[in-house]
This record gives sequence, C-alpha cells and structure tokens, in this order.
Amino acid sequence: MLNELIKTTVRKLCALAGIQIVPLTKHQKELMGNDANLRYRHFCIQDAITMQRGQITLKEARFLGQLVSNLETKGPIIEIGTLFGWSTRIICLFMDNGRELITVDNYSWNPFGLPPDMHFETTRTVLKDEISSGQPQLMKMSNTEFYNIYSGLSPALIFIDADHEYEAVKMDIEGAKKLGAKIICGHDYDERRCPGVVKAVDEYGGPKRLVGSLWVL
Ligand SMILES: C[S@@+](CC[C@H](N)C(=O)[O-])C[C@H]1O[C@@H](n2cnc3c(N)ncnc32)[C@H](O)[C@@H]1O
Repeated sequence: MLNELIKTTVRKLCALAGIQIVPLTKHQKELMGNDANLRYRHFCIQDAITMQRGQITLKEARFLGQLVSNLETKGPIIEIGTLFGWSTRIICLFMDNGRELITVDNYSWNPFGLPPDMHFETTRTVLKDEISSGQPQLMKMSNTEFYNIYSGLSPALIFIDADHEYEAVKMDIEGAKKLGAKIICGHDYDERRCPGVVKAVDEYGGPKRLVGSLWVL
C-alpha cells in the first residue's frame, strides 16, 4: 500500500519534470541483478535499438512486401499508423515506382513516451531518404480526419495498424471500405494482446489470409 503510494507519487513528480519511468521487465530485472555494470539507461538504449514494441515482425514484413509487390490495381497505398516508419519503409521497398504512399498518424502513442511533436520529427528523420525521393507523404492527423478529407483515387491497399481497440479498428475497416480500398489488411490479429482487432476483423468475415498477426480481409 505504502509502496504503491510512493511509486505513484514518484511517477507523478517525474511526469511533472517531463521524465517518463518505464518499469523493467522481470527478465531485465534478473539481468540487472546478475551484472553490476548494467544500468537502467542500457535497457532504454536496447529498447530503442531493437524496437520490439508495436512494430511488425520480419515474417510479417515479408508478407506485407509480397502484398505490395503483387498489387494489380492502380491507386495509392494508405497506411494508418506510422509510428517510426518501419512498416512504411517495407512498403516503400516493395512498391512500384510512381505509386503514391500516404501514411497517417496522429502521433498519440509511441513506446518511449516521446511527445507528439518530437515523435513526428523523429519519424520524419527516419524516413527522410524516402521522403526526398518523393514518397511517402506523411499526414499528421487522426484516422477519422483522414477518412473525412481524403478525396483521391480508391486505394489499391490500406494497411491498418493504429488504435487497436474494437471501435477504432471497426472504424478503420469502415473507412477503408468507404474509400473503396481493393485490399484491406492490418496488424495485430491476436486474441491475447489485441482482442478488439480480432473482434472487429471477425465481424467482417475474418482474415482470408493470416501471417503472424498480419491479416487480410
Ligand atoms: C502500433 S503503432 C504502428 C506501427 C507501425 N505500423 C510499424 O509496424 O512500424 C500505432 C501507431 O498508431 C498511431 N495512432 C493511434 N491512434 C491513432 C489514430 N486514432 N489515428 C491515427 N494514428 C493513430 C500511434 O500514434 C502509433 O504511432
């Protein structure tokens, strides 16, 4: 009880000072116990380099690449949920020259707690080579805003990987249908971690294809 109170107070004070405390995992605590040289910052650096949280795996990336390189229809590719541009770069690597790629994010979440403007700047820097070659176009806005303002060609493919709550995914699928997307796919079809994604995707007939947790309607 007292422990919890101390933790909450420290967290609040840190938040006021602009510091975010991310608890170590059990495994990280064990490693720290076994190695006197390990510091908290080492785990932060490791997290930043390995970027395991929130991004598609290599196997899923290969599958996404296949979907993109096999596109037969005209129209842009839309990605909902850019984060730091990992899946965006996969799409860039596999898409035809001349195809448009629009990636949408409101920069509301990232695993390091970077503030939205810094998150956006970081992603823009990660993608600077691609952006200077013409694609992708980064749109800093919510999925809802995007579906309301978009007036271009029907997308050849929409990749949904933003808010994983049921209502949000349902809204993304509806948005994709409204725009006439030929292929609707997304990430995190995983009952344990993201039940909302599974529920929403199942309501639209379930995945026709599933690799890892990357689903295609
Ligand atoms: C799981 S990450 C995307 C990972 C990325 N596709 C990848 O594999 O590298 C989810 C992203 O969706 C964004 N997001 C969350 N809710 C959103 C919303 N309503 N509209 C737009 N973006 C949103 C977050 O800011 C975050 O960057």
